[in-house]
Amino acid sequence: MMNGPTTSVDDCSLITFDKIESNSGSLSVLEPFQQLPFDIKRVYYIYDIPSGSERGGHAHKTLDQVIIAISGSFDLTIFDGVRTKTIQLNRPNVGVHLVPGIWRILSNFSSSAVCLTLASQVYNESDYIRESDHYRLFKTS
Ligand code: TYD
Repeated sequence: MMNGPTTSVDDCSLITFDKIESNSGSLSVLEPFQQLPFDIKRVYYIYDIPSGSERGGHAHKTLDQVIIAISGSFDLTIFDGVRTKTIQLNRPNVGVHLVPGIWRILSNFSSSAVCLTLASQVYNESDYIRESDHYRLFKTS
């Protein structure tokens, strides 16, 4: 578990999941502490996304997440208070591990894109940082 105020975009790694392929399609599996770097406490997914929408625009104090374009594609822009990186997610067997303390924006959703998120904690609004000023203070604390 990393310390949110000190994390950087370089702590967010791309994870490629194995693909079990057959003539009838492909299968990937996600298990806590195997393919995933934490225990899963929550799964949510974003879908029916109107074109041109942006999501995110916040950071988490202590939450770890893995974000996957389970269908379609979108861009994930991550910011650590100093540096910004944009990663295009477009494969159902690739995820990004978002460590605590990273500001994120999801944009450029393709039609019928689905964003699957696996999270290390249950929903807790007080773990969110939704104001950029508050985020700046958090990263310099
Ligand atoms: P939010 O995390 O801001 O969405 P995004 O980052 O995709 O733009 O959440 C949107 C709304 O959904 C907000 O009102 C909180 C609510 N929500 C829950 O009730 N439970 C959850 O697990 C999540 C992720 C969001």
